[in-house]
Amino acid sequence: MRMYDLIQRKRNGGVLSDDEIHYMISGFTNGEIPDYQMSAMLMAIYFKGLNEKETLTLTLEMAHSGDMLDLSPIQGKIVDKHSTGGVGDKTSLILAPMVAAFGVPVAKMSGRGLGHTGGTIDKLESIPGFSTTLTINDFIRNVNEIKLALVGQTQDLAPADKKLYALRDVTATVDQISLIAASIMSKKLASGADAIVLDVKTGSGALIKREEDSITLARTMVKIGKRAGRKTSAVISDMDQPLGYCIGNALEIKEVIETLKGNGPKDLTELCLVLGAQMLFNVDAVSSIETAMDQLRELIDNGSALKKFIQFVKAQGGDETAIHDTSLLPSASITEDIPAPGEGYIIKMHTDAIGAVSMILGGGRQTKDSPIDLSVGLVLHKKTGEFVKKGDILATLHANDPKKLLAAKEKLLEAYKIAAFQPSLPPLIHEIIL
Ligand code: URA
Repeated sequence: MRMYDLIQRKRNGGVLSDDEIHYMISGFTNGEIPDYQMSAMLMAIYFKGLNEKETLTLTLEMAHSGDMLDLSPIQGKIVDKHSTGGVGDKTSLILAPMVAAFGVPVAKMSGRGLGHTGGTIDKLESIPGFSTTLTINDFIRNVNEIKLALVGQTQDLAPADKKLYALRDVTATVDQISLIAASIMSKKLASGADAIVLDVKTGSGALIKREEDSITLARTMVKIGKRAGRKTSAVISDMDQPLGYCIGNALEIKEVIETLKGNGPKDLTELCLVLGAQMLFNVDAVSSIETAMDQLRELIDNGSALKKFIQFVKAQGGDETAIHDTSLLPSASITEDIPAPGEGYIIKMHTDAIGAVSMILGGGRQTKDSPIDLSVGLVLHKKTGEFVKKGDILATLHANDPKKLLAAKEKLLEAYKIAAFQPSLPPLIHEIIL
């Protein structure tokens, strides 16, 4: 078999067999197939696509390129959740303790991620003492004892995806639906959970911006999950404005705590209830989505979800006092309120640009090795659809560097679009794919 022939066939719109995909992924992972040939293949796939069978085979090859986690020592059916990412998305940190408080085990591996803030793991690291690395034995023990553990992804989880993603990132081939689906699902399958819930974002702050593409991505991933024997569903949720009000690592932890106390933003709370209900449903812990939502709401109202979060923080070495007194979390040295430049309705928030504000302040990383400032970010005061008078505060920026603050201010004002008419708002939940 020659990689040249496979590239040529895909370039001409042909189909790759299971054996050929195996040859390509194992050869690329072990270094026999060079980056330049894989880059050409990625571009051919970008333009010609992969059919359903090719996408499934690629996913399974990448999942099996490293360790397939064996979570069988964990009692009960385990559920995992993944988000395609968005601005202010801190749902995992609310969902995990909520679902664990219900009694369903959550054993989750999360990434750090590149983007406007860090990933779930970075956010957790803003809690003093919190450890995101556990041995596999401690990981399993914690899940058995308290129903919840959340750690960073190990090096051995789907290494083919890691290598391939790095190449996609520099060859403009990230935003191809089959490649995204295979990338996400290979890690989910290797992570060993019995059931999976996918939060596929759509809108100006999402990786996939058009609703029809988000739906195609969701359908592709749900099919892969089911074919691999995992009960899988996807929620298409709105990312045409940020989720909640806080963007930035430690700032998001504060919003997580408020949400677990029952004082969270409406959109964030609602989405967590919808995703949480799907998680419970997919492990057959409830008979209906409606009752699951009511039961999860009750776990917030009666304090059980927050209690579980505190138990989880302590179990992974975190300082519980920082949860009770959030002034102990990292905080920035400068805060500045940004006033509205005029009067009218906020008709649009360019959500990518809002994310870029956090990035400019230092809250995210450009490359996987760049440093990240856990204390910076922004707190929104106004969101799409709201009426503002000139001088009303749109957002508060949290910064440590006056120069970055200046650039962030400009970016923030570009992100808000104010006009005289009231806009219609998209729904929070666009669709659920079962
Ligand atoms: N997230 C992933 O894990 N992979 C992709 O390809 C895109 C987003």
